[in-house]
Amino acid sequence: MDLVFATHNTNKLKEIQTLLKNTQFNIKGLQQIGCTEEIPETGNTLEENALIKARYVYKKYNINCFSDDTGLEIDALNGDPGVYSARYAGDVCNADDNINKVLQNLNDVSNRTARFKTVIALILEGKEFTFEGVVEGTITSTRQGEKGFGYDPIFKPNGYSLTFAEMSLEEKNKISHRGKATEKFSAFLKNS
Ligand code: IMP
Repeated sequence: MDLVFATHNTNKLKEIQTLLKNTQFNIKGLQQIGCTEEIPETGNTLEENALIKARYVYKKYNINCFSDDTGLEIDALNGDPGVYSARYAGDVCNADDNINKVLQNLNDVSNRTARFKTVIALILEGKEFTFEGVVEGTITSTRQGEKGFGYDPIFKPNGYSLTFAEMSLEEKNKISHRGKATEKFSAFLKNS
C-alpha cells in the first residue's frame, strides 16, 4: 500500500524508507505524487503543524500519508524556539545564526534544561494518529562537536557527556527524539 511522507527533504525520505522497508507500506515522497508546493506550517504546536501537513496532502491528493515536525524547547526561554526552531533567528537564517541566538539569550542563565521533541502525524484511511518522541537534556555554553545538524552542537542529552554533534548518527538515533518517535510509528505500521 502506498504511503506518502509529506516532506521535500530527500534525506529524511531515504532514512524513513530504510526504516520501514519491512512493512507492507511503499513509502513515497511528495515529488512522486506531483506535490511541489511548500505546505504552510501555521500551527502553534508541533502536533498541530504535523497534522496540518498530513491533512493537506490527504485532502488534496486523497492518499494515506504522514508528516513530522520537530522542535527544541528550552525551559528558561519559555519553550522557545519550539515550533520556530528552523527560523528562530529570522526568516532567512541558518543553524549557526539560530545557535548564536540561543547562546546569547541564555548568557548568564543557570537553568539550561531543554528537550527535543518530534511528533509524527499519520492519516490512514481517514483516521488520525500521532506518535511523539522526546529526549531531555541541557544546552551547553559553547559549541561542541562537528557532526549532525541544527542545534546538535549545543544539546547534551541527559546521562551523556557528549553533545549530539559529538555522537555518531547511529548513537544519536538510538536515543533521539526522532529515533523514539519513528520507533513507535514503525511498530504501529508493522501491526497495521
Ligand atoms: P524539522 O521539523 O525536522 O524540519 O525541524 C525543525 C528544525 O528543528 C530544524 O530546522 C532544526 O533547526 C531543528 N532540528 C530538528 N531536528 C534536529 C536534530 O535532530 N538536531 C538538531 N536540530 C534539530
